[in-house]
Amino acid sequence: MEEICLEKIIVEKSPPLHGRVRVSGAKNAALPILAASLLGTEDIILEDVPNLKDVEIMCEVLKSLGSEVAYLDANTIKINSKNLNNYETRYELMNKMRASFLVMGPLLTRLGKTRNSLPGGCAIGARPIDLHLKGFRALGAEVVQNEDNVFAYSDRLTGDMVYLDFPSVGATENIMMAATMAQGETIIDNAAMEPEIVDLSNFLNKLGADIRGAGTSTIKIRGVKHLGGAKHSIIPDRIEAGTLMVGAAISKGDVIVENVITSHMKPVSAKLRECGCTVEEGIDSIRVIGNDHLKAIDIKTMPYPGFPTDMQAQFMALMTVLEGTSTVIETVFENRFMHVEELKKMGADIQVEERAATILGKDKLFGAEVKATDLRAGAALVLAGIIAEGTTIIDEIYHIDRGYDRIEEKFRKLGANIYRKEF
Ligand code: EPZ
Repeated sequence: MEEICLEKIIVEKSPPLHGRVRVSGAKNAALPILAASLLGTEDIILEDVPNLKDVEIMCEVLKSLGSEVAYLDANTIKINSKNLNNYETRYELMNKMRASFLVMGPLLTRLGKTRNSLPGGCAIGARPIDLHLKGFRALGAEVVQNEDNVFAYSDRLTGDMVYLDFPSVGATENIMMAATMAQGETIIDNAAMEPEIVDLSNFLNKLGADIRGAGTSTIKIRGVKHLGGAKHSIIPDRIEAGTLMVGAAISKGDVIVENVITSHMKPVSAKLRECGCTVEEGIDSIRVIGNDHLKAIDIKTMPYPGFPTDMQAQFMALMTVLEGTSTVIETVFENRFMHVEELKKMGADIQVEERAATILGKDKLFGAEVKATDLRAGAALVLAGIIAEGTTIIDEIYHIDRGYDRIEEKFRKLGANIYRKEF
């Protein structure tokens, strides 16, 4: 029986974080852009790709569909989907990562049919796909769904108007990709405006697509017959950047986060200034300086350009030690407070009422044995462990590795006492 190695992250109380750290490429741009690579019929080179478990899984999915995928170095991937020959994704790959559902739009428009197992829900919510399927049907596809799979087919998709009841990031991306080779024009109304949508649109246009309006709530896509190849560099990860910025605030440190698009950081920078941090923006870096008098704040998660739900857990860790009472309202996902119980094990004072949390700031936290319940919750526990008295042991860290490229190395570089240990 193969020994299953159990890794945990150990965090000891650390001095105020200081120094410079470079942000990796964005997970949530790399995954849709990898899926979009199924549309290209010539060489595609992707640079600044983060080294993540989720990226590895997406590369496996592409290979299972007939794409050639090769790592040129740790952060550069070459893809060629000329011989795409399979329209069905394997259950065991789909089941590992819900973002693999993003291959549905490209397969539908390139091959005329696609069958995918339904992406499971996850800890933070049911994660339905109704808006994705609404878009495919609007483009003329027949979509058949049973309890395990969804099958879609169409001889040639026809552009049309699609209204999204919620500005879903994944639905916007899937429909945009499907529309690139549909006949005529597609308009996505109430589209998601996240920076990762803009990066995907820029990449698709480099392949030869005709997309306008990404980053606004109305995206227009004129169908083309053929998409070629391109070289593209993935935008920096605004959520990893935000996580490192909160590290400076919570530890009362002084950190310069490099490789940042400062306009993507506006909600995070604004909230750090509101609680009393100094936040200085450079050309492609942001300096955050904490202090001893940080005050309670309120956040409400919203679709971009509102405060990002992916930064909610990290800010809640900060709030546990801000002077006064902070509040969090989570409007995007229905169950994104699993980190609350783990933070309470460390001495945090948090009350939850449905989608609202109230956090009473304490003088200090205490190290404890905790577990990462999802990707961003894990990051929040790392942040709490940096300031907690004693030792914090974080279990189930595979969640963290899905979305952060060597998080402990980045924090160690800033002076944190943090390391990974096999048990
Ligand atoms: C993307 O997920 C991100 N993942 C998530 O990041 C992020 O939290 C989320 O967008 C919101 O910003 C990737 O990009 C790979 P949604 P996605 O569709 O596309 C509802 C992380 O930590 N909805 O915008 O799945 C849904 O239930 C991850 O990096 C429908 O109702 O998010 C949710 O309540 C976590 N029907 C809301 O929309 C649909 O068809 C937002 O979901 C689709 C979504």
